[in-house]
Amino acid sequence: MEIPEELDELLEDAVEKFNEMDKVRIVSHYDADGISSASIILSAALREGKKVHLSIVNQIRPELVEKLKDEGIENLVFTDLGSGHLSSVNEINAEEAIVLDHHHLSGELERGVHVNPHLVGMEEDTVSGAGVTYLFARKLDERNKDLSGLAVVGAIGDIQEENWRMKGLNEEIVCEAEEVGTLERGEGLRLFGRLSRPIHKSLQYTTRPYIPGVSENESGAVQFLSSLDIDLKKEDGSWKKLVDLEKEEKKELASAIIKKRVRNGVDGAEEVFGNTYTLSCFDGRLEDARELSTSLNACGRMSQAAVGILACLGDEEASEELEKVVKGYKRTLGRLISTVRNNGGMLEERDEFNLLDGVGEIPENFIGTVCSILQSDVSEGEILVGIAESENSRVKVSVRVPDDHEANVGEAIEEISEDMDIEGGGHEKAGGAYVHEDEKDKFFERLTKSLETET
Ligand code: C5P
Ligand code: ZN
Repeated sequence: MEIPEELDELLEDAVEKFNEMDKVRIVSHYDADGISSASIILSAALREGKKVHLSIVNQIRPELVEKLKDEGIENLVFTDLGSGHLSSVNEINAEEAIVLDHHHLSGELERGVHVNPHLVGMEEDTVSGAGVTYLFARKLDERNKDLSGLAVVGAIGDIQEENWRMKGLNEEIVCEAEEVGTLERGEGLRLFGRLSRPIHKSLQYTTRPYIPGVSENESGAVQFLSSLDIDLKKEDGSWKKLVDLEKEEKKELASAIIKKRVRNGVDGAEEVFGNTYTLSCFDGRLEDARELSTSLNACGRMSQAAVGILACLGDEEASEELEKVVKGYKRTLGRLISTVRNNGGMLEERDEFNLLDGVGEIPENFIGTVCSILQSDVSEGEILVGIAESENSRVKVSVRVPDDHEANVGEAIEEISEDMDIEGGGHEKAGGAYVHEDEKDKFFERLTKSLETET
């Protein structure tokens, strides 16, 4: 694998530091990338015989800093987290710290080693937090190459692909994973649940690529399929999954999807196909790296990250438990979406954006996902800003910008954080922040201004 020299040196320094550590205190992020990162670093540390204490958090907040400070930590390792809050990491006052992250940089690490693609002029979306953690782990010990599949799961979780294709170091990691046999890459239709769901469900659940009249429409999906010359049931009467289709049937389905999109004015045949990744160390549903990633995300949001990590470490009981967590997550999400749909008062149309007031109704760990789902329909193509109650007199704000808007919300939030006491960040079309309750209107004003000047 070609790793840029400067990055390789940082990894080398981190490994040297890690080798001196006996007890390691690990903190990782609660999303799919963070949970994948945690699984990688935990496996690697246990292989080295280290004593490990791990926490999964949704943000570096002042209370976390206080708690960690009180622990009197000698050796701290942050994964998929930390780069944007280096002054807080310093404040924890650990004797040594290793930060393995890919988020935007803020501040400088005082003691320890900081590994981040931005430090060597690389873009954030060319390697995930799990990717950086993996690069560290394989440098620590070649045996850790068997963790390469998890690095791909992390990158998928952070939506680092462009049209379902990896780039940069992520792509190199996929190639290495293929080489060592932890993952098999294929080319296929970009449908959700290709190994696990009946095809009409796969179609219904797939919103990217959007299939007009079929996406999010179960009867539409069934009708669409019945118009094709594809047998939807197996000989034993059970539903076929996408993986069960013959090559010719897949071709027919693909061309029908493309035709349906073109007829409804949605172009871009390339959006219909992409890479699939099958993980060799899992069975059934979790074999599909995309489904594992979705499941890990569900664990984090349901405050059950440990289940996801144990499943990644190969614990069979945890893999079964994971299914339950995912079901619970879907139920919760469905209930929250209905609450918003049935309660018009929660959505306020403002000039600049639509505001979803989820305070008292939507938990902070769900507001982002609820906004992502509702942005395209309830918000009708406008920017959607959601708020939920958080801790310590703060609200959690999630911002979702439609694809066809020019705005870069991550940059806007970063700009605001220069002169407002908020903790936030994000990407081009999705961002989030924790804002003091009594400063939320000021935040909205600033957000509107920043987004206006950009467009
Ligand atoms: O939480 P939510 O889903 O709204 O976050 C959207 C994006 O903004 C996430 O990808 C996350 O990385 C980023 N974010 C952040 N800091 C926060 C909240 C969210 O960087 N405090
Ligand atoms: Zn990440």
